[in-house]
Amino acid sequence: MMKENVELLLNQQVTHELYSAQLYLSMSAWFSAKGLSGFAKWYYVQSYEENAHAMIIYNYILKTNGRVVLEPIKAPPHEWDSVLDVLTETLKHEEFVTSKIYNIVDVARQEKDFKVDQFFQWFVNEQVEEEDNANKNIGKYESMGMDGKALYLMDQELGTRVYVAPALLTTMEA
Ligand code: FEO
Repeated sequence: MMKENVELLLNQQVTHELYSAQLYLSMSAWFSAKGLSGFAKWYYVQSYEENAHAMIIYNYILKTNGRVVLEPIKAPPHEWDSVLDVLTETLKHEEFVTSKIYNIVDVARQEKDFKVDQFFQWFVNEQVEEEDNANKNIGKYESMGMDGKALYLMDQELGTRVYVAPALLTTMEA
């Protein structure tokens, strides 16, 4: 049985991940409004991925006989100053999520909950990828410069992203 404080952190993480899904969907809508359909697609897929992260934790709580308690999800922003502003805010948000994941692992270890510690290693690794993706998008944008052609090419490239459900979620839902 999970300790109450660990269970609370897991429930809060479901909310953080659902908020991430909202945030990236809002960013996707912003890109759509700017006519950048490739960026919009990338963020739309990212929103699905965040929802999957939430569902992985949701299923984990249920599988360990915990109690899922959903919390309100605050409204995300809907305006940004520039493309670079969105990309930078994405990295900042991912760093925030990483800090929350690290805290879960830290508390799980203090409570000797090695199941949660082990399970959340998937999220530790996932955050490496999430921050790397956010960093790469910033790097690409900055190195390509801001002329229309470069932005068009980046938009084309980001538009090729396809959603693939994480294997871990597929396993948990089976
Ligand atoms: Fe679920 Fe982008 O971290």
